[in-house]
Amino acid sequence: MKQHKALEVSKLTKEYGSVRALNELTLEIEAGEIFGLLGPNGAGKTSLISILTTLEEATQGSAKIFGFDVEKESKYTKPLLGVVSQEIVSHGFFDLQEILRFQSGYYGLRNNTEHIQYLLHKLNLWEHRDKKVKQLSGGMKRRLMIAKALVHNPKLLLLDEPTAGVDIQLRELLWEFVRELKSDGLTIMLTTHYLQEAEELCDRIAVINKGELACVKSTRDIISELSQREVSMTLKTKRVFSHPYLVNQNQNQIRFLIPAPVPMGELLRSLDIQTDEIIDLQIKEGGLEEAMKRVLNNSGGGVK
Ligand SMILES: Nc1ncnc2c1ncn2[C@@H]1O[C@H](COP(=O)(O)OP(=O)(O)OP(=O)(O)O)[C@@H](O)[C@H]1O
Ligand SMILES: [Mg+2]
Repeated sequence: MKQHKALEVSKLTKEYGSVRALNELTLEIEAGEIFGLLGPNGAGKTSLISILTTLEEATQGSAKIFGFDVEKESKYTKPLLGVVSQEIVSHGFFDLQEILRFQSGYYGLRNNTEHIQYLLHKLNLWEHRDKKVKQLSGGMKRRLMIAKALVHNPKLLLLDEPTAGVDIQLRELLWEFVRELKSDGLTIMLTTHYLQEAEELCDRIAVINKGELACVKSTRDIISELSQREVSMTLKTKRVFSHPYLVNQNQNQIRFLIPAPVPMGELLRSLDIQTDEIIDLQIKEGGLEEAMKRVLNNSGGGVK
């Protein structure tokens, strides 16, 4: 049997009146991966998610979830999808267990108590289970939304900014939980503005800008190809250098910014520095933030 992609988006365009939120976007997510969808405010991330959940209709193009078209075959795609939307939706008068039971019922699951209890424990909501939603804090509500998205054991989980407003400790717990879900075979697409989160979790990352794909690569490659390393050296004696990667020099202290793919050995050779001339050497690796800025500059975008 042919193994379907978890998600196949093909030349997807979305217009809201005169605003083109997605412009012929094409991308694929493999089954089993954690995929990061990054991009500045207004890039089109939530618009894509809205089309996948059929909240919005595409203007043109198509999207398939495990081979099923989200518009024409939504009765198959809906049970496969779990969604945590960016906006917190609150149903103030019910308690957590009731909400999760209703949500299960919506998918035709009547005896789902065990799974609901598992989720409440996993998301640190067990002690709050009898509270009404209006009594929860923002971070608790967001975790409840994650539980809600998982009651029916979806195959593709869409997380639109899952940790916005979640404190550091709980964020790390959520990361752990997301990794666990992946090891159980779930495919996850995540949007986030916390680049450290994307760096921690995602196997691959797509950067979109103004509704277009600016870059899609493995997280490792994005960082190694598109960020720079900062190399600082303290030498025994003062020497004057002229070098394309030199940023500044202060007496015997010199600082270079080298593109990540250039090996350190090459830098040292090109400077003709012997190792016994070096008192101290520090290398600071670049991160996803820097790589993202570069992608966005190259794609002619920037924050709107
Ligand atoms: N319902 C709507 N009606 C009209 N325009 C919309 C609607 N939803 C989104 N847009 C516009 O579409 C564009 C993309 O918005 P979208 O919400 O998809 O961005 P995003 O990448 O999710 O941004 P953020 O990081 O701020 O959540 C923006 O220009 C936005 O103003
Ligand atoms: Mg959004």
